[in-house]
Amino acid sequence: MTAAKNNAAAKNNAIEKNNSASACSAGLTSVAAATDSVMQNPCKAGLFITFEGVDGTGKSTQTAYLKEYLESLGAECVITREPGGTAPGRQIREILLHSSDDISDRAEALLYAADRAQHVDRVIKPALESGKVVISDRYIDSSLAYQAAGRVMRTDGVKMINEFAVGGTMPNRTYLLDMDYAASKQRLEHEPDRLESAGAEFFERTRKEFLNLAEREPDRFVIIDASQSVESVRNRIREDIGALLCKTSAGIMPAGNLQTNLQAEMSAETSAEKSGKMSGKTSAQSEQK
Ligand SMILES: Nc1ncnc2c1ncn2[C@@H]1O[C@H](COP(=O)(O)OP(=O)(O)OP(=O)(O)O)[C@@H](O)[C@H]1O
Ligand SMILES: [Mg+2]
Repeated sequence: MTAAKNNAAAKNNAIEKNNSASACSAGLTSVAAATDSVMQNPCKAGLFITFEGVDGTGKSTQTAYLKEYLESLGAECVITREPGGTAPGRQIREILLHSSDDISDRAEALLYAADRAQHVDRVIKPALESGKVVISDRYIDSSLAYQAAGRVMRTDGVKMINEFAVGGTMPNRTYLLDMDYAASKQRLEHEPDRLESAGAEFFERTRKEFLNLAEREPDRFVIIDASQSVESVRNRIREDIGALLCKTSAGIMPAGNLQTNLQAEMSAETSAEKSGKMSGKTSAQSEQK
């Protein structure tokens, strides 16, 4: 472990200790404990990866890239999203994102949690139990950031219902795509949905809470500057997932295959970079063709 990582872990412990002193921190401590237990015993149960961040930061784009990459290494992937990762969930998504009815903040939080419970029970857990890689575009942290901080609700209540919803199934890795709200909004091509219409202050609170969550769990989160090019973000994720797979791949694919595939992948990228340099192009430009 590097000195920087040691510091981050010590900071995390200190934050956890502080939190356990307050009544509303009970939820947080057990979310972290659930993550720890998955991290300690990840191989028996596939690999669970989530993407988080406010709208337009590139979650769907990077989810698709990561799937393609992991499949090229021999992993079997399940791509999913929240809300709406199941048939009942799609009905909930419709209400959450497109209803013109007035939905109270508490009802909204419970609807997200109901969608999540169904998603965990019917999609995520079964896939992990059969040794697959599950990549979810949003998960529990979105509720902690949007419903608790964005809507300014009681954090302990939102945590409690979400812990019930996930039942201990926590991601091994969460990529937080972070960028300025005004810039990410520019990227959105569709008409804003019910949540996307919530305004700049709502998004600033939400973004800040995502960063707080990441600070509390540095072993699970990787924060990525999402204002970089698509290729730079993609490469940062590949670099991280390669390292994570070396630690946790046993249940996903035979370790020998993974090592061979990763080595082949890395040498292919090195040669692509060399030929890109020779022709005056970056590797990203070469790959974009
Ligand atoms: N790094 C990037 N640089 C520039 N444009 C990007 C980048 N990443 C994604 N985009 C573009 O921005 C738009 C939004 O990306 P994407 O749909 O992946 O974001 P999202 O986080 O999934 O958004 P939402 O929360 O609304 O689902 C798309 O048109 C995508 O092609
Ligand atoms: Mg998306």
